Amino acid sequence: MKTILTGIRANSVLTLGNYLGALLPMVRLANKYSGDDEYQVNIFVPDLHSIISEVDGDLQENIIRTLKYWLAAGLKLDKNVHVYRQSYVPAHSELCWILNCVATMGETSRMTQYKEKSEGRESCNVGIFDYPILMAADILLYSAQYVPIGEDQFQHIELARNIAMRFNHKYGEVFTVPVSTAEQVKFMGVDEGIRIRDLLNPEKKMSKSTAAAGSKIMLDDSPELAAKKIMSATTDSYGKVKFDMWAQPGISNLLQIEALLTDTPLQDVISTWAGETRYGELKKKVASSVSQTLEEFQKRLSEISDEQVLMILGMGENYANEIADAKLKEVQKAVRLR
Ligand code: TRP
Repeated sequence: MKTILTGIRANSVLTLGNYLGALLPMVRLANKYSGDDEYQVNIFVPDLHSIISEVDGDLQENIIRTLKYWLAAGLKLDKNVHVYRQSYVPAHSELCWILNCVATMGETSRMTQYKEKSEGRESCNVGIFDYPILMAADILLYSAQYVPIGEDQFQHIELARNIAMRFNHKYGEVFTVPVSTAEQVKFMGVDEGIRIRDLLNPEKKMSKSTAAAGSKIMLDDSPELAAKKIMSATTDSYGKVKFDMWAQPGISNLLQIEALLTDTPLQDVISTWAGETRYGELKKKVASSVSQTLEEFQKRLSEISDEQVLMILGMGENYANEIADAKLKEVQKAVRLR
């Protein structure tokens, strides 16, 4: 069976951008493939990755909430879907150490995320530097070929591939090398990563760390508040609806949001609205789609209990430990630790 694997960090409440750009596409992908016995899907919370940076509120609560997000977004559970927490599978940390001794300072220092986060800061923690190696361990332990993630993580996939190939070359064919990022994109069925924009400054990505509340919709915003934010979104003065991310990013963002919310091809939404001169009409439609989606999502979320999540994790973590321990053992033998 081929393995599809992905994780979303649990550092805070997520935004509508995270939901539409990451959670929902991954859920649709997982549901599409997990039904037949050709693929299995591993969904995990990289909680060890969480503590490299600030956590909003309590990490435990964030972890459980993030797992509930997957379920509320419609992840279908079946025998080929495994859900687990990274820190409950100790092999991740152990393999990370061994891979630390295969990866080089040069390649790890070149990671954009590390460069941005560490810039001139002596106080930058070592975890921020080592994070992509732990990520490689997350992937290689399960022989995952497909790792659907956002563009900002592509460099880390290429690093994981390089580490796997170097290890195999030195110690023998132990790891399955994930497919290249070009093939990942093809597998995900997207031309490029979906990037929901900031509602007030649509040139920028919607981000939970932006201070202005009107810039972002949080998944725990009330449906009414979310609708208001859409109604106050920045547009432009062209006075005609057209999909053009460069010239009309605000309007294009609304069209993109509408397409994802209603699960309609973007092209269809674009042609429905092309030429409309009253931006207010488009906003009203998007506002209603957003509030309806949030209402349903929040209802499903409230119906999932902590106990339910813990039960799913119990099964997922038993399975994950079995697979991960077996691969770790192989690695240990290959490097002659065993
Ligand atoms: N680095 C990812 C992010 O910040 C999360 C992550 C950690 C991950 N390990 C992973 C994603 C392994 C996919 C596979 O979004």
